[in-house]
Formats: sequence, C-alpha cells, structure tokens
Amino acid sequence: MKRYHLTIAGGGATYTPGIVNAILNARDVLPLRKLVLLDNDAERVATMGGFIRLLLAEKAPEVELVITTDRRDAFTGMEFLFAQIRSGGLKMRALDEQIPLRHGVVGQETCGPGGFAFALRSIPDMLAIGEDVRRYAPDAWILNYSNPAAILADAWHKRFPELKSLFICDMPIVIELLVAATLGYRHADLAFDYVGLNHFGWWRHIWNPQGEDLLPQLRDHLLSERPLTLFQDEHVNADWIPTFERLRKSMRLFPEFLANTYLQYYYFGEEMVAHEDPHYTRANRVIDTREKAVFDECRRCIAAGSAADSFLCAGVHGDFIVDHARAILTNQPFRTTVNVPNRGLVAGLPADAIVEVHGQVTAHGVEAFGVGELPHFQRALMVQQNAYEQLTVEAALEGSYSKALQALTLNRTVPSADVAKRLLDDLLAANREFWPALR
Ligand code: G6P
Ligand code: MN
Repeated sequence: MKRYHLTIAGGGATYTPGIVNAILNARDVLPLRKLVLLDNDAERVATMGGFIRLLLAEKAPEVELVITTDRRDAFTGMEFLFAQIRSGGLKMRALDEQIPLRHGVVGQETCGPGGFAFALRSIPDMLAIGEDVRRYAPDAWILNYSNPAAILADAWHKRFPELKSLFICDMPIVIELLVAATLGYRHADLAFDYVGLNHFGWWRHIWNPQGEDLLPQLRDHLLSERPLTLFQDEHVNADWIPTFERLRKSMRLFPEFLANTYLQYYYFGEEMVAHEDPHYTRANRVIDTREKAVFDECRRCIAAGSAADSFLCAGVHGDFIVDHARAILTNQPFRTTVNVPNRGLVAGLPADAIVEVHGQVTAHGVEAFGVGELPHFQRALMVQQNAYEQLTVEAALEGSYSKALQALTLNRTVPSADVAKRLLDDLLAANREFWPALR
C-alpha cells in the first residue's frame, strides 16, 4: 500500500498533537512514510517535535519524523500539506486584538482591524509557501486552516489557480455539532445549508432524516433560553461560552437564519468592545492557558519518555482536516463547508469572491453547492465584507496604502474613515517587520 509524505506547516502549533493523532487514526487510508513538522520557530517546533517523536514511537514507529525550518526539505516529495501558520505568532495576535480596542473598535483575531493586520502579515507568508509548493511538490494537496481564511484563499486562488487546495474552517462544523447535540441528533444524520464568507455566514436550513427543517425548532430552543449542549472540545471554556450564548441574541434580532458566531463582532461591536480589557485579551488568555498547558505537557511527556495517555491528542480540529484528506484518498464524497471562488454560487456577489458554502469533497477536489438568491440583508453584508477582503488582498499585493485605508473604512467594525486612518497608522507601526511596505 502506498504510504505518504505529509507536512504540517505551523508544525509547532498547539493543534499539532490532535492533527497527528487523527492522521494516525486514519492509517487505513492515510498511512505515512514521512511526517514533517515545518515551523519558523525552531525552539517551539523542537519541543512539539519531541512529543510527536514519542507519539510516533508508540503508535507508528515506521514513520520517519523530520523537524525543520526549511521549506525545500519539508516539501520535496510531499503529497499532503496541512497549513496552520500564524504569522507573527500569538505575540502579534495580542497586538491585533489590543490596538483596535484602544480606539474603541472590536479587537479580534480574524474580524475587523485585527483580522486585517493579521492578513497583511499572513498573505506574504502564504504566497511564499505556495511558490515553494509549486517548485517542489506541484501535485501535492494543500489543506489550509491558516487565518484569515477567506482573505488567504483569495490571494492563493489568484496566484496559484493550478494547485490542488482546500481552505477550511472548523467553526461551521463546531456550530453544527452544537446544534445537533442540542436538538438530540447525531451530526451525521442532519443535512445543513450554510452560506456566507468565512467567519461571516448563516444557516438557512437544518434538515433531519425525514426531510423536516429543524430551524424553527432551533429558533424556539434558543429564544426560550433552554440550555445548549456543548461538547468536549477546545471551544468549551469560559471564553467561548458567551459567544455561543450570544447566538440567542442574533436569533432574536434576525430570526430568519442561524448566524455564525463570528457575526457577533459585526452585529454587536459596542458590546464586544465593552466586554474586553485592552490590556489582556483572548491572545493573552491563550498564551497563559492553552499554550502553557500544551507545552508543559510536551515537556512532561519528554521527561517521562512516553506520550501514552496524554490529554493532548483529542479534538474536532484534527479529525475534521483528516476527514477531507480521507475523502480525497478514497473518493468517498464528504459533505463539508469550504471556502471557494464564488463563480455564480451566490447571486449578486463577484465571481472571484471567496464564499463559504457546503460542498462535496472527492478525489477530484470540491464540488460546491449553489445557493442562488439571498435576502437583501445577508447579501449586502456579504458584498461589503467581500469588498473589504478583496481590497485587503490588493493592498498587500500592490503595497497600496490607499487600498488599505479603503479596506479598513469598508469594514463594518470601523465607524469612520478618520478612525480607519488612525488604526491603519498604529497597526502599520506595530507591524513594520511583517507587512509589505505600503505607499
Ligand atoms: C475557531 C476558528 C478559528 C480560530 C479559533 C480561535 O476555531 O474557526 O479560525 O482561529 O477559533 O480560537 P482561540 O481558542 O485561539 O481563540
Ligand atoms: Mn476559522
């Protein structure tokens, strides 16, 4: 049986154990000959690599493990690339979140000015990865989790239309799992209809096996304050619960569809700002909790010489990306949400907008399901957000200050062009070592 060379870009990330464990669980279809952890932070990936080395020794000793900072080493001969890079690391994520808050604007990893700053750091890094995939492994499949996903997908599809790629996000599946559990169904027994942009969309229908639409039932459930059934995952902690609870408020105001949790930043900007401490945001909490716990655990296992029964390996995140690889390898259709060029899927949006819709993944890649017409409200929000996304890509590729300013001014979280300009100048000063020069 063929064995594969799989590389994880951002191999030092805290999600790596869950992803590797999911890969090992899928060895019936995705057996590895070589696993490469690629990261530009040599120290971090060395610690993570120490843990992964133990895991492989115990579960798959036949796999060669390579830990590297060099893309040529990582990509030559590769069949799969799982990309989960975070350009600038959590240190820059903290600034992405804190700088906007100082201006009274939403401070978030992927939404608003924080997501914009992250995009300007990530686009050059993603394109450098793409150039080297084209050079060293042009037939490889690239499965991408890196954020901000829609913006990176836009830049990627324009530059590398010939590469085989899937841009995915685990938020829709996490929400779908929450909906299924809350309504007392298995996720696999429900069919979902979702449309939007990444971190910016809505479920229009939730069908059960009898073909009934469960959206009215879900609406009643949310509006009558009955409890949500959260499950064991990274998203069940004190930081995420208010986000899921706020689905009730979105539903009360806009009851026709179920909103993606990330719409809270666009619908309820003032409330989201009021809840944050500009000196200590989600990034700081991630550094002090997940980051610390994961690397402490890596070091504990390395000292003990065993990864057996470590808590590090669980999670939807890992299983979900591997489900896509499984569908590619087996040609068994897998229904999922994907970020793809629109090309008529959603009426009223540009052909090159990256939309997030359901589709079917097989050996040939993704076949996305058409959506057709949307109500004014959702379509107009998407048109505006897409224009922000495309201008962000153009600003990065052209090195254009004025496009950057237009992008930020268009983002719904930013109240005026004056605030946009102050934000842009502050973000620029903080990101000098990462952003393309803007003129
Ligand atoms: C969800 C989103 C990801 C995002 C993550 C942040 O999983 O889909 O795109 O990066 O949340 O979670 P965190 O725990 O780091 O705040
Ligand atoms: Mn996401």
